[in-house]
Amino acid sequence: MQYHVSASATDVALDALERILQVVSSSKRPAIALPTGKTPMPLYEQMALLSNDVKASLAAVNWFALDEFLCKDIDHESSFRYFLESRFLRTVNLPPSALCSLSAVTDAPDVEAKAYEERIAAAGGLDLAVLGIGLNGHIGFNEPGTPLDSRTGVRQLTEKSRKANAYLFGDDLDRTPTSAITMGIGTIMSARRIILLATGQSKVPAIASLLSLQSVTPDFPASVLLDHPDAHILCDRAAMGLEV
Ligand code: GLP
Repeated sequence: MQYHVSASATDVALDALERILQVVSSSKRPAIALPTGKTPMPLYEQMALLSNDVKASLAAVNWFALDEFLCKDIDHESSFRYFLESRFLRTVNLPPSALCSLSAVTDAPDVEAKAYEERIAAAGGLDLAVLGIGLNGHIGFNEPGTPLDSRTGVRQLTEKSRKANAYLFGDDLDRTPTSAITMGIGTIMSARRIILLATGQSKVPAIASLLSLQSVTPDFPASVLLDHPDAHILCDRAAMGLEV
């Protein structure tokens, strides 16, 4: 696991974009998992600035959403699907069909999860997983305690994670879902390359915990990256607790 420290969140986004484009150009039909959240917003803003030719090259990718809320009566505008449609697909001129995602409203989440694993496998496995990190070290929506070999499935959300996501539900914690469906830790670890983005002061405790860990523990899911052969943590100075 390697750390790459940039001056700012924009520089982290540019670094991430360069790594994504490297994967895009190195394979005819790569598969890439994308995260939602505040951290990757600058990445999608940078993607919007790409030339039309480069944007066109993104059409060759099998894009997968990393995770989704699970909530029967969710407003589409609060879903991760909508987040990626509006902040990623639209800005790079890709049609809705370019992104595979998990249903937030499914009646059969286990069937949905199994089918997602099959779609990833049919795409040849993930060439790249782009991740953020939760305040408690979660990756995707794999909360502390999730088995390290878990595959795509349902997770109950901690209060901390619900509070961190309440901004998508008008800051109303009562409306913020209590469960989610996510690629598993094992699914993420099967990706041939992983980049995890962390920016801003709020990530200082999470990155400090990650830096202090010598071995993998389910108590801090992101620690699993210690065991991945090609994992990169892209941080800005603020997330490292350095002077900016
Ligand atoms: C969310 C998502 C994660 C995301 C993380 C950090 O709950 N499930 O995929 O990486 O938490 O989000 P943010 O970037 O908003 O801090």
